[in-house]
Amino acid sequence: MSSSSNVGDIQREVARRRTFAIISHPDAGKTTLTEKLLLFGGAIQEAGAVKARRASRHATSDWLEIEKQRGISVSSSVMQFEYNGHIINLLDTPGHEDFSEDTYRVLTAVDAAVMVIDAAKGVEAQTIKLLEVCRLRNTPIITFVNKYDREVRGPLEILEVIEATLNIECAPVSWPIGMGKSFRGVFDLLTDRLLRFRAGEERRSDDEEVIAGLDNPRLQELFPDEVDTLREEVELLREASEPFDRELFLAGLQTPVFFGSGINNFGVQEVLHALIEWAPRPQSREATEREVHPDEGPLTGFVFKIQANMDPKHRDRIAFFRVCSGRYEPGMKLKHLRLGREMRIANAQTFMANARKASEEAYAGDILGIHNHGQLQIGDTLSEGEALSYRGIPYFAPELFCKARPLDPLKAKQLQKGLTELGEEGAIQVFTDGMGRKLLGAVGQLQFDIVAHRLKGEYNVDAQYEPAEIHTARWLSFPDQETRKQFLQRESAAVAEDVDGNPVYLAPSRYKLQITEERFPEVGFHTTREHGEVLAQG
Ligand code: G4P
Repeated sequence: MSSSSNVGDIQREVARRRTFAIISHPDAGKTTLTEKLLLFGGAIQEAGAVKARRASRHATSDWLEIEKQRGISVSSSVMQFEYNGHIINLLDTPGHEDFSEDTYRVLTAVDAAVMVIDAAKGVEAQTIKLLEVCRLRNTPIITFVNKYDREVRGPLEILEVIEATLNIECAPVSWPIGMGKSFRGVFDLLTDRLLRFRAGEERRSDDEEVIAGLDNPRLQELFPDEVDTLREEVELLREASEPFDRELFLAGLQTPVFFGSGINNFGVQEVLHALIEWAPRPQSREATEREVHPDEGPLTGFVFKIQANMDPKHRDRIAFFRVCSGRYEPGMKLKHLRLGREMRIANAQTFMANARKASEEAYAGDILGIHNHGQLQIGDTLSEGEALSYRGIPYFAPELFCKARPLDPLKAKQLQKGLTELGEEGAIQVFTDGMGRKLLGAVGQLQFDIVAHRLKGEYNVDAQYEPAEIHTARWLSFPDQETRKQFLQRESAAVAEDVDGNPVYLAPSRYKLQITEERFPEVGFHTTREHGEVLAQG
């Protein structure tokens, strides 16, 4: 078993792993960058494969139809590949803001993030939100400013915008020369070399021209019009901008900034090298009981995402499990703390770019897909022996609500089953009011559309959805039974239960929330709750 496996082996395996997500506003170039990174890792053979994969998933999978219709990505996935002796785990995040909860959960499972910025558009709304989420956990961030093959904003302006809107110090590590039709390449500020740009390269060829030193006569010869500006800008940068500092980067306080063109595969390899050289190896994680080090022998980890019916023909349900310590081997028996029993994991999957395969071993930083029939929920911890529970995957108080009623009353049970399962999957939050009615809560409108679509496609329930007159929700905690009783007597019409039986106050307006909070100062009104958490009830 893994507890007896060699600690040196575990250390070595953990040290060569990097687990990260790419975050961006839709259309900034996340898919393109993902694809080029996979090309470097040999995980795919030609560009277009990621998009093609998406397209074929559309063809076979009904519920992703809606994704195709709206041209956005609502499902996130995991891709593992090897590069230069390292194991890279790349986690995809849905770019659309309506899925910010899902994105947040994915970001709890990574140790670093790559932020892609469209150099024409600058910092966009969704990037601001995602960066805030990264900051909650001080996730180190590498920035890639994309699309320099187009007419875009100048690099100085981009840096200013990033610093001002995202409130993070920028350390440029490369610098573009020209843009659009006159894009000549990027100058690597750390190694003092220019990498010359030639458009339309699928793979980086070895005969790429690299020109060492700013005073190299070859620069003058090749770029007589641009070389003076380049020298001035680099001089200015060296005086005025902060040098790259790995400690600040690891603390999430500074981001190294690369410039390039994803579609032309230019500047991408540098990002990959930065991930390997600068991004942290899998980090220690806080459990309620103690901090767990990734090199520890016994296997531990947590579920950060559930995806049901990835293939509707098989109705499978997969829990995405981030390994936090130890070594996975097929057939292990793990403790499932929430259910208080053991679970045998016989056939966990590893996700590759185009396929899944049975995992033979996994270490901290890796993501396993575990088939199950509902035993695993978001936030669940599995461990090899010790009673542990990892912290930090919250539900957010929804701000949009609707009531669901089946058009055919005989389908009430099906509706209930569908909502419960979709709720467990984290696609939507489900509350039950005092009359037994189901209320759906979401952070973004699109979540309702997906749920309606999936209830019809997967559970065969046509339902009617009516908006509910609710402004926001707060989870309630009570200091004692007496206060709880008083509160429920007075406010019962506005109290519902969440999936774990916790009481929730559904505020009809901001004003009503405020006066209720003032009337019951000793009651806790919480905007988030952790998965599996049971709140104090006196
Ligand atoms: P996303 O996943 O962040 O939503 O972005 P995605 O990679 O799909 O890229 C969005 C659009 O931007 C795509 O064009 C893509 O080709 C283009 N793009 C990405 N990187 C670059 C770049 O470095 N330079 C230029 N000029 N364009 C880039 P599209 O027209 O929407 O799709 P497609 O027809 O190219 O597939």
